Amino acid sequence: MKLASWLKVSGNSARELASLVETTEATISRLKNGHALPSMELAGRIAEATGGAVTANDFLDLDPSEGTGDGIDGARILLIISGGIAAYKSLDLIRRLRERECELRVILTRGGQEFVTPLSVGALAGAAPYTDLFDAKTEFDVGHIRLARECDLIIVAPATAELMAKMAGGHANDLATTVLLATGAPILLAPAMNPHMWEHMATRRNVVQLKADGVSFIGPNAGEMAEANEAGIGRMAEVPEILGAIENLLGQASAKPLTGKHVIVTSGPTHEPIDPVRYIANRSSGKQGHAIASAAARAGAKVKLVTGPVEIADPLGVKTIRVESAADMLKAVEAALPADIAIFAAAVADWRMAQAAEQKLKKKPGAQEMTLDLVQNPDILKLVARGHKRPELVIGFAAETQNVVENAKTKRRAKGCDWIVANDVAHARGVMGGTKNAVHLVMEEASEDWPEMTKDQVAEKLMARVAEHFEVTKAPA
Ligand code: C5P
Repeated sequence: MKLASWLKVSGNSARELASLVETTEATISRLKNGHALPSMELAGRIAEATGGAVTANDFLDLDPSEGTGDGIDGARILLIISGGIAAYKSLDLIRRLRERECELRVILTRGGQEFVTPLSVGALAGAAPYTDLFDAKTEFDVGHIRLARECDLIIVAPATAELMAKMAGGHANDLATTVLLATGAPILLAPAMNPHMWEHMATRRNVVQLKADGVSFIGPNAGEMAEANEAGIGRMAEVPEILGAIENLLGQASAKPLTGKHVIVTSGPTHEPIDPVRYIANRSSGKQGHAIASAAARAGAKVKLVTGPVEIADPLGVKTIRVESAADMLKAVEAALPADIAIFAAAVADWRMAQAAEQKLKKKPGAQEMTLDLVQNPDILKLVARGHKRPELVIGFAAETQNVVENAKTKRRAKGCDWIVANDVAHARGVMGGTKNAVHLVMEEASEDWPEMTKDQVAEKLMARVAEHFEVTKAPA
C-alpha cells in the first residue's frame, strides 16, 4: 500500500511514523508525496513499522493521479524505445509528447527496431531516432554525452528485463545503456515483459537496485499478455499513466529545495606570487568546496564557484570562476554578489608579499638567510559577512589543529558569519587533500558533531541543513 494511504487508514501522523523509523517528519512528508525515494534501510524500517503494509516496492510506482499539475509542456525529453511488443504504444507516447511541444529526442535500440521502424519513429518524432553508439553521424550531430545531458528527463518505454539488468549492473555497451549511465537527468522506466520474467528473482533484484539508485518506475500493469493464454503483471503502463508519471517527476525536479536561491562558494587554495616563478600556497585540494558547489546545484540552486588553482574538474551545472590570488578571489566574489547564501570553503593564504618581485629573486652571494616581507590578505569571509551586500546565510570554514569547537565559536563571532564548519586538520587525520572529513557545525545557538564521512557526504548534509534553514525561516510564525 502507498505510504499516504497507510497514514490515512492507520490514523498515524507523519510525525509519529518519523519517530518510529528514526527519520524526520519532513522526510516522511516527501516520501508520502512521492517527492523522494527511501534508502533501502529506511524502506526496511518503514516496512517493519507498518507491519509490512508499506514495502519498498510501494515507493516504486508513481501514482499518476498524484500528478503535481506542473505540466510537461516544452520539457526536453529523451525517449528510449527498447525491444518489446509494447513498443507500438511508444509511438502514441511520441505523439502525445509532441502535442505538448516537448523537445523530443528518441533512441531506438536494436531490439526496438524489431518492433517499430526508425522511419515510423522519425516521422512521428519529427527527427530521425538515434540508433548506434559508434555511428559517426550521431557523434558528429549531438554525440552520446549531449544526448545524456541535454534533457530534463529520460523515459525508457518499453524497458525490457535485459535493459534493466544492464542498467542495474552499470553496463554501457550500446547507445541506450551508455546514455543512461552518463546522464544526470531523472530516469523513468516503463517495464514491459512476460509475467514470469517480471517475477523472476533476478528482475526483482534489479528493480530494487535501480530504485535504490534513484530510478523511477511506472507500471507494469496486470492484464492479458500478447502471448496467447498468458496473464499477470508485465503489461507496459498505458500512455496517459506514463504522461502522469512524467508530469509528476518533472514537477519534483523543478521543486528542489534550493530552487531560486543564488549560492556563492569559494574553494581551493590561493597562490600568492613571490616572484614570476614562485608563490606561497597550501595543500588545499578544493575537493570539499567543489563538492559543496555540486551539492548546491543538485539541490536546485544557481551556483557560482570561485576557485583557486586546483587539479580537479569543474562541477557540473555550476558557473566556475578561476582565480589565483586572494585579491583576485575577493574581486570575483564581490562581482558574484548579491546572493542568498555564501559558503567560504577556500583555504585563502593569510599572507601575501608586500611587493611581489618583478624579476626572479636571486641568491645573494654569501647570504645564508632570506627574509620575505609579507602583509595580511583581505579576509574575504569577514568583508562579505560584514558588508552591505551580506547574503542571508554566510558560512565559513575553520581548519583547526586544537580546541576545534571552541576556536570555531570564537571565529564565528569574530568573522560575523552565521555558521562555521570546523574541522580538525591535524596532519594525522589526512583531511587536507584527502577524501574524508570529520566536521563540527557551529551555529549561534548550538553546535553539532558530525561523524567522519566523505567530503561529498559532508556537502550533501550541509546543503540539507541549508535547505532546512530556509524552510524554517520561510515558515509562517
Ligand atoms: O581565519 P581563518 O583563515 O581560519 O578563517 C577561515 C575561514 O575564513 C574560511 O571560511 C576561509 O575561506 C575564510 N577566509 C577568507 N579570506 C581570508 C582568510 C580566510 O575568506 N583571507
